[in-house]
Amino acid sequence: MAPVQVGDTLPSEDLFEDSPATKVNIAEFVSGKKVVLFAVPGAFTPGCSKTHLPGYVQNADKMKADGVGEDAHSVSINDPYVMAAWDAQHNTKGKVRMLADPNRNFIKALNLGTNLRPLGGFRSKRFSMVIYDGKFQELNVEPDGTGLSSSLVDKIKYKN
Ligand code: BEZ
Repeated sequence: MAPVQVGDTLPSEDLFEDSPATKVNIAEFVSGKKVVLFAVPGAFTPGCSKTHLPGYVQNADKMKADGVGEDAHSVSINDPYVMAAWDAQHNTKGKVRMLADPNRNFIKALNLGTNLRPLGGFRSKRFSMVIYDGKFQELNVEPDGTGLSSSLVDKIKYKN
């Protein structure tokens, strides 16, 4: 199956925030909104912690001022407690929502997963996307799957 493309509809999948008890259905959440979503190969990994996530945290207020109505959403194939601990370390509340895809359903539905043996197997590729009213308006997938170039915050064209 090919990865999702610009113009496709975001799949309806449940993600988890803070604990397995708090479901966030991503399709319901993005309906009628402009949302920036980025995915990382793993919480706490060096590239994700030092570069990818901090860029979105630091630019959260600017993105909102520029018309992105919501906090950015960070997704990783980790459990929700790991994402909550990563949130606490980076003080992301009110800037980036930390959403877990522990059963891999969302990343599989996007067909944006990759096998990362050093992290234990199937994980998300690193990517960013702009979703407008449930459809992909922009999609930036790292060409090598995990690099830190096209998916960084300064490459997003969310103003369009
Ligand atoms: C990282 O540092 O972001 C990273 C480490 C191992 C695999 C993928 C990403």
